[in-house]
Amino acid sequence: MRIDVVTIFPGYLAPLDLSLIGRARAAGLLDVHVHDLRQFARDRHRTVDDTPYGGGAGMVMRPEPWGEAIDHVLAQGAGAVPHLVVPSPGGTPFTQAMARELAASPWLGFACGRYEGIDERVLDEARDHMPVSLVSLGDYVLGGGEAATLVMLEAVTRLVAGVIGNAESLVEESHEDGLLEYPVYTKPPVWRTRRVPEVLLSGNHARIARWRRDERLRRTVARRADMVRALDPAQLDGRDREVLAEEGPEPTGP
Ligand code: 6GU
Repeated sequence: MRIDVVTIFPGYLAPLDLSLIGRARAAGLLDVHVHDLRQFARDRHRTVDDTPYGGGAGMVMRPEPWGEAIDHVLAQGAGAVPHLVVPSPGGTPFTQAMARELAASPWLGFACGRYEGIDERVLDEARDHMPVSLVSLGDYVLGGGEAATLVMLEAVTRLVAGVIGNAESLVEESHEDGLLEYPVYTKPPVWRTRRVPEVLLSGNHARIARWRRDERLRRTVARRADMVRALDPAQLDGRDREVLAEEGPEPTGP
């Protein structure tokens, strides 16, 4: 997968050299390019922002440097185009399903806005040439798209084939099947008087699987009533219903 990020703070993306993403880059699975928006500003002071037409607070990112930067990224593609992600608190909510879709794309671009946002014509122009998604991490406001881009890339790249050695670790995690994950334990069996749940030491794999599912259901009820309501009743067995009945209200389906 190729990834291009345009930002006025290239240093903000330094973590892409580290950890799983850094390793995947070294292994040739990810081809990451970070571009400094200011390099595409033509004036002497490399201006990227200006006051908003119509008045109001703050500054807006000017269209010219963005146009040049996006043209530059597109020129790397030999006719192919990236799926352009624009992090924005006004976008559609980022989900695991969206991470999966983006992970299937061979080329992603991220346009990191700052200030009050990017001149809308940049997005209109981009949509004439490539798929564009405005994406939000949640209902709060960040100072710019850089941290959001790091978050999205962390979620997306681990789903790219080969990036995680053990693909099995991807199946039972939170948000993959509508339930939160079960609690995990490792050695020692007793720590500061706290015991690992006996069932996990039993070697009885059926009992362990059932216990883990019970815990997933309990946690989901306790923390995420919205996820419980969205559960498909047809996907629940008798024991599931029992646990849910002990813990709280019934799911109503999608
Ligand atoms: Cl994706 N960007 C910005 N700037 N703020 C946000 C966000 C994204 N998601 C939540 N707040």
